[in-house]
Amino acid sequence: MPALSDPAHAHGDLERTPLLPNTQRPAEESTMAPSSSTSDRADALPLIARSSFTGPAALLAQAGLLLATLTLWRVLYTHPAGLFTYHPGLQSIAVLGFLEGILLLQPQPPTAAHKRKGLQLHQVLQYSSLVAIVAGAAFIVYNKAIHGAKHIQTWHATFGLITLALIALQITFGALVVYSPLQRWVGDEGKAKALWKYHRMSGYATLLFLIATPLLALWSDWLVGNSSRLERGLIGAGLVLAGVGAFARVQTSKLGLKRS
Ligand code: HEM
Repeated sequence: MPALSDPAHAHGDLERTPLLPNTQRPAEESTMAPSSSTSDRADALPLIARSSFTGPAALLAQAGLLLATLTLWRVLYTHPAGLFTYHPGLQSIAVLGFLEGILLLQPQPPTAAHKRKGLQLHQVLQYSSLVAIVAGAAFIVYNKAIHGAKHIQTWHATFGLITLALIALQITFGALVVYSPLQRWVGDEGKAKALWKYHRMSGYATLLFLIATPLLALWSDWLVGNSSRLERGLIGAGLVLAGVGAFARVQTSKLGLKRS
């Protein structure tokens, strides 16, 4: 892991715009591409260990995710349901991926190199999870259509649609504030940086729906008919623990609500 004595550590700018390039520090921030200098590089695994697996709240979130995902996949494995299986299967991968992408960015990055690597990994996780959640939604809509079933009849379905809409907005907004060619749509780079805190706020609102939607699925006819009360309890408890762990790590100063 690179030395934690990077000058960016002490700089409050990391606090307010932890992911965005800082034009006043060209040596640190000139590109998001990997740099040839070792001191300017952060490796993915140590970063993930430090950001996503350190501290009680992170471990609680990880344990919850593991519990919910493994229990659901056990139910899916023991109750094959054709095309329908792809819906909960892909959505649980998406929830896992989106949450990992959030957990990764919650602690303050100690160096500018960590900041760049965190942004790279965040993008990989959030874009892959986007593909999974859109595919998972397509499977349930198609499966309902070929069986002549009505659409959007339950709270789970309604929350699912809201979740998909929030994720579309969240990813579009994130791209607008991060990618230089798109930043002119919001003004200039400075204005884009100032908007980052709103990406965080709406990200946490989206996360609430991302957890509430699979929780509501616990009352769906399919899950009630194909899983035990214990299994549904474990999936629900896992999702709640994951949410509690992630929200416990929110830093109000990074949301612009309080300066530390
Ligand atoms: C964040 C994750 C999820 C999202 C965004 C989501 C989204 C949706 C949407 C939009 C529908 C309605 C499709 C339509 O009416 O045409 C739906 C239906 C359904 N989903 Fe999910 N889903 C998620 C997770 C899950 C999970 C984990 C299960 C577990 C079994 C599940 C089970 C079902 C079932 C049984 C239906 C059909 C009944 C109903 O419409 O409520 N979903 N989902």
